[in-house]
Amino acid sequence: MTQIYRSIVVVGAGGKMGMRISDNLARSDFNVHYCENAPEGQQRVRDAGREVAGIEAVIGDCDLLILAVPDIVLGKVSEALVPQMKAGATLLTLDPAAAYANLLFQREDVHYAVAHPCHPSVFLERYTKEEHADAFGGVAATQSVAAAFESGSDAQREALEAVIRVMYAPVDEVHWITVTQLAYLEPTLVETVTCMFGTFMKEALDETVARTGVPQKAAEAMLYGHIQIALAVAFRSTNPFSDACMIAIDYGRENILRDDWKKIFDQSELDKVIARMLKIDHVRRDAPSLESTT
Ligand SMILES: NC(=O)c1ccc[n+]([C@@H]2O[C@H](COP(=O)([O-])OP(=O)(O)OC[C@H]3O[C@@H](n4cnc5c(N)ncnc54)[C@H](O)[C@@H]3O)[C@@H](O)[C@H]2O)c1
Repeated sequence: MTQIYRSIVVVGAGGKMGMRISDNLARSDFNVHYCENAPEGQQRVRDAGREVAGIEAVIGDCDLLILAVPDIVLGKVSEALVPQMKAGATLLTLDPAAAYANLLFQREDVHYAVAHPCHPSVFLERYTKEEHADAFGGVAATQSVAAAFESGSDAQREALEAVIRVMYAPVDEVHWITVTQLAYLEPTLVETVTCMFGTFMKEALDETVARTGVPQKAAEAMLYGHIQIALAVAFRSTNPFSDACMIAIDYGRENILRDDWKKIFDQSELDKVIARMLKIDHVRRDAPSLESTT
């Protein structure tokens, strides 16, 4: 396969994602340049044994520009950098919010893609200590990736997948979907619902200990084991919940969930949460959508 992405630039290389993907890209055969504007970020890049490049020196020849900067600055950063990209190059962001909200500076001769790590599954069979320790993914535990690349050719998508598989390695599957579908996965499914329930369970644990005098360790043991069994029963049907448990579940839904909770899947609600995350008044629907950039 032709390696279409010969030269790669990571912007924000000293940040959390920048460091993670750079650690993996640095071990590959790709020609990678690491750009970072904060002094402490630059120090992290150097401490990892990599050189900090000036963006002006590398952007003109870059085939793939990866923006690992905070989502709220993606509009401004893309405005400054996209005009300097060469025609036919690809801009890759790591979260769908800015692409969905049409905040990225648009050029017809530049391709736009998004790739978000799924993180290692709770059902992953882990064998080594390293796999067990790798909750985030990208180190030892296998994960999948959800990605969108709606304007590139099949060959470009294949070449981009090769880069994505290195960035987030070890990777089993890359799921190619649209930017809007990716936005329904994150934030709606995994942040609005799943991460919210994670924090909610922590709050319930704290409340149990504070209100009832149950020792912290006993409450933790009971909760952590039941998180595991609840997920196994609900998602894998390992065995049914008991009849009494089903009654308690119904009581919980009546008292904790709103009847209209599924409205979070209305696109107007997706627009609201993304606007809130990006700290903008509203999602721009009049600007050209990435999905129509072919
Ligand atoms: N942190 C996560 O767990 C996570 C997971 C998946 C995806 N993402 C996505 O990754 C992206 C980066 O998030 P993060 O959490 O790594 O952010 P971060 O704040 O940890 O790092 C961002 C880095 O970008 C640098 N930066 C900002 N503007 C720059 C510029 N103009 N030029 C060069 N460097 C610049 C900052 O100094 C910082 O080092 C976001 O799109 C985010 O949604 C993050």
